[in-house]
Amino acid sequence: MLDKINTVKNQFKEDVKSVKSLADLEKVKIKYLSRKGTVADLFLDMKNVALAERPGVGKRLNEIKTVISRELENLQSGWAKKDGKDSLDLTLPGRRPFVGRKHPLTKTLEEIKAIFLSLGFAIEDGPEIETDYYNFEALNIPKNHPARDMQDTLYITDDIVLRTHTSPVQIRVMERCQPPVRIIAPGRVYRRDTPDASHSPFFHQVEGLVVDEGINFGDLKGVITAFAHKMFGSDIKVRFRPSFFPFTEPSAEYDFVCVFCRGKGCRVCKNTGWVEISGAGMVDPNVFKYVNYDSEKYTGYAFGMGVDRIAMLKYGIYDIRLFFENDIRFLEQF
Ligand code: PHE
Repeated sequence: MLDKINTVKNQFKEDVKSVKSLADLEKVKIKYLSRKGTVADLFLDMKNVALAERPGVGKRLNEIKTVISRELENLQSGWAKKDGKDSLDLTLPGRRPFVGRKHPLTKTLEEIKAIFLSLGFAIEDGPEIETDYYNFEALNIPKNHPARDMQDTLYITDDIVLRTHTSPVQIRVMERCQPPVRIIAPGRVYRRDTPDASHSPFFHQVEGLVVDEGINFGDLKGVITAFAHKMFGSDIKVRFRPSFFPFTEPSAEYDFVCVFCRGKGCRVCKNTGWVEISGAGMVDPNVFKYVNYDSEKYTGYAFGMGVDRIAMLKYGIYDIRLFFENDIRFLEQF
């Protein structure tokens, strides 16, 4: 029996020498250590060993089993390392981490800001939760004025509202600074509107305000036209239509030639050739009273701008709700 054990041991040494891969190693492991392997056979043979000799032979057999297991384990960890190195596939494409991107509204707003910065405007900010005073009162929209109907909003208390436009920033800036003022104020605004393809209860505006001595309506037209050309191309015409806002006098609504059909008439411009951008006008002297500006000395213009509208024109998006649904399939196109 001891001879038999030695033979197995020597054969194992031979077998190990010819191991060339992890697969070979696995075969040797099965041959010696599996349930029906050589070592298991030796243990079965124990019953043929004389009782007196069993303890000695058993001890020897256990030793051999330990030696074989250790040796195989060592080989295995050695091969695992080697194999890992050999199997490095340099042609395998790397795993790209998921990279987010800017929202189309953010991109549009960045472009708008860059254009106005280049025209000498500073950027201002104001709160989205606003007081009735800044959102309406100081903009010459008294309580019970019918103009409030156009901009119904969410009231937090009787005096605190979600702002319906960025115009309150005009008041905040004029309270703080003396003319010359030349600012834009981008931000989110809220209205009581039922969502559809062109309405959302929240959307984005950029307010513009310029106050100085000798500012006139021609300055307003010049700046809006320069903006239209930089944003959509120098063939984009701008038109002003008379309108009404309590905080500007005279007031206008301004349109750009439809950027899709360039004025020929299409679905987007409802065959008019024009798309409405927002309102504008000369600052009403009544507004200057609220901020203690001398309306005999200073004049100014203000304009609004719908960021969502401009982004829709820029990227050919037909439904404003897409901006707010957070569908990756939509967002990753920009
Ligand atoms: N605040 C107006 C609106 O939201 C737009 C506007 C801004 C009009 C500035 C005139 C001057 O509709």
